Amino acid sequence: MAAAEGQWVLMATGRTPTNIAVIKYWGKRDEALILPINDSISVTLDPDHLSATTTVAVSPSFPSDRMWLNGKEISLLGGRFQSCLREIRKRARDFEDKEKGVKIKKEDWDKLHVHIASYNNFPTAAGLASSAAGLACFVFTLGKLMNVKEDYGELSSIARQGSGSACRSIYGGFVKWCMGEKDDGSDSIAVQLADETHWNDLVIIIAVVSSKQKETSSTSGMRDSVETSPLLQYRAQTVVPGRVLKMEEAIKNRDFESFAKLTCADSNQFHAVCLDTSPPIFYMNDTSHRIISLVEKWNHSEGTPQVAYTFDAGPNAVLIAQNRKTAAHFLQKLLYYFPPQDNDLSSYLVGDKSILGDAGLHSMKDVEALPAPPDTKIPDQKFKGDVSYFICSRLGAGPKVVVDEGQALIDSVTGLPKGV
Ligand code: ADE
Repeated sequence: MAAAEGQWVLMATGRTPTNIAVIKYWGKRDEALILPINDSISVTLDPDHLSATTTVAVSPSFPSDRMWLNGKEISLLGGRFQSCLREIRKRARDFEDKEKGVKIKKEDWDKLHVHIASYNNFPTAAGLASSAAGLACFVFTLGKLMNVKEDYGELSSIARQGSGSACRSIYGGFVKWCMGEKDDGSDSIAVQLADETHWNDLVIIIAVVSSKQKETSSTSGMRDSVETSPLLQYRAQTVVPGRVLKMEEAIKNRDFESFAKLTCADSNQFHAVCLDTSPPIFYMNDTSHRIISLVEKWNHSEGTPQVAYTFDAGPNAVLIAQNRKTAAHFLQKLLYYFPPQDNDLSSYLVGDKSILGDAGLHSMKDVEALPAPPDTKIPDQKFKGDVSYFICSRLGAGPKVVVDEGQALIDSVTGLPKGV
């Protein structure tokens, strides 16, 4: 139902990027509160390329809470939105908008229902951590609307209760999710290690790998690993604590060699844990393995890491290059082995397309003329169609309020998503 005539609609819009872990979160010690068994570290991506935009509205005329994702209404019944909504409502403060003649006492927020409309600027089902961006954006924007005190640590702990890794999207740059020790989870929060300007020559290329296989969800995969994998216990207790310290040092010193070695080793150990789970979980596929091989052989032939790879719970490769020059060089190798299926270069690389120019790739003719990479020697065969497309991105800033009302996803008169 739309807002009744004469009733006000109050709303806020925010934009929040996704994040990719370089020290992985895998395994919960508390399923309800989403408390992890180890610390994790991530990079936040550029919101221009991978982010969620969310408008949250309240009106006395809304009879229930409703949500639309990418234009389609979805159920809010699952616990994840409800727990975030409850936690933000608890912290809501008095609010007044004199222009609109709206005054809300902190105890009155409880009585107002919300409409939420969210849109991802990247494919939601492609395994690119859309729920991390989405839940972080929801918490951030709802906090703005309800005039919640700006305490990012606390917001991260609320976002965590919606989707674990969402807590890291509350900040830009390099972020650590501290596992915490307390049973109530109040110390399981994210902190920023360095902002996005600290190491801004890193280039991130994501290979979105075609997958026909139905993947195991992270939630059930993690649960199975906790219950059955002896390697996971060893990883969480013995390996990760030291790795987190070394990764913090590598980030602080912009030490790419150490950063890349730790990133690759941690991704590989996470997938080893998946194989150590009963029944085993296979997130990577042949294309993922070929990309690993390409990176490993190139890094080996150069004698020092040029590119780091990391894979989440799916076959997509996240490749982090030390700078634009290496990224452009690496892109030539990637496009040699994985040319586009339909010969359309411009839709095959999205995000920061200028990297194509750096690589001297202005048309499909240039791609076809690429010489076989001499140093990588994966079987000299091409794998057309095995990568759906590439995204070229960089580190980005954390959540932002979208001030331009024209960009709001909800109509300020009807209280419904625009176009509905
Ligand atoms: N899950 C995936 N994308 C989302 C979004 N933008 N908001 C909330 N949940 C999501």
